[in-house]
Amino acid sequence: MTAEQFISKDYSFTIEKGRFTWSSPSNIALVKYWGKRDPQLPENPSISFTLDNCKTTTTLSFSKKETSSNFSFEVFLDGEKKDDFKPKIETFFKRIEGYLPFLKAYHFKIETSNTFPHSSGIASSASGMSALAACLMSIESALSNTISNDFFIQKASFLARLGSGSACRSFEGDLVVWGTHKSIVGSNNVFGIKYPYEVHKNFKNYQDTILLVDKGEKQVSSTVGHNLMHGHPFAKERFKQAHNNLEKLIPVLKEGHLDAFIKIVESEALSLHAMMMTSMPYFILMKPNTLEIINKIWKYRKETGSKVCFTLDAGANVHVLYPEQEFNQVQEFINNELAKYCQNEQYINDKIGFGSKPVNNE
Ligand code: DP6
Repeated sequence: MTAEQFISKDYSFTIEKGRFTWSSPSNIALVKYWGKRDPQLPENPSISFTLDNCKTTTTLSFSKKETSSNFSFEVFLDGEKKDDFKPKIETFFKRIEGYLPFLKAYHFKIETSNTFPHSSGIASSASGMSALAACLMSIESALSNTISNDFFIQKASFLARLGSGSACRSFEGDLVVWGTHKSIVGSNNVFGIKYPYEVHKNFKNYQDTILLVDKGEKQVSSTVGHNLMHGHPFAKERFKQAHNNLEKLIPVLKEGHLDAFIKIVESEALSLHAMMMTSMPYFILMKPNTLEIINKIWKYRKETGSKVCFTLDAGANVHVLYPEQEFNQVQEFINNELAKYCQNEQYINDKIGFGSKPVNNE
């Protein structure tokens, strides 16, 4: 798979104006993407659960301009103008301009809202960039008559990746792989693919409760974080480890081995944080309450035989993962023993979802 396949052909139609709306979820990586090179290519393959509740809905309105020398757009979050979002979108537009030749021909109004609380420490870049990329693909699809559903999703994922790497894993399917892996057919570095193999029913409706330990601004932006892997003393081994963990996950997903699943997922989360602790400069992104929660989960698992486990993003919040059939007891455990470690005792119940959806588009 190469980027060239996404360069647009001449369009068949002209459109003066219109609007499209897409809703797109966040995702949580089981095997982590950490380390990238230009242009937004991952140093190792990753796999994630697509989420269901944590979503961004974006309406993209567009109208033809007189001249096409610059990008022209305005951004609104929950109805309020957000000029501080513009630089990131401008960078995104510059990166994707070569693949969407209509970008300078229109003025865009981008209206976006998230289902999860603003500044909850939950990454909105995956859901936000994937929703915007899908809206842009709806325009391309309206201008052209040659776009199949498969191509639509592939190119949307390809474009979203150029906005934020993990955003390319939010389109299609409950489990999505991004990055070339020798044992996963179709896996590639330029867009995410639906995990192509059998997944055991143990993983159906898998639950993810996000414990909001720290709702502040990210201490380390993801771009800075990924860059820390350049020249990192353990980088090579880490990339190898991710390949191996993904390899091990294939039979685990097929056979539903939850103990093996837990080992891979928790080790991945701690390896990600270990990379940050051992880079130069170094960071500790966990908070004391993150560790309290991890220890409580381990104790609970030992005492009850539960299959609950945790994973982490590049921050202090904890994603608590567990099978659907354990919902009641794990909720009780969270309420009684974990909620007190969250800011304002706040957490978000989510579960595995199925990717982006168009909303009321004609
Ligand atoms: C720790 O996708 O946010 O969540 O490509 O710079 O936008 P950029 O980074 P981003 O990195 C996410 C890293 C992670 C792990 C993961 O989601 O795989």
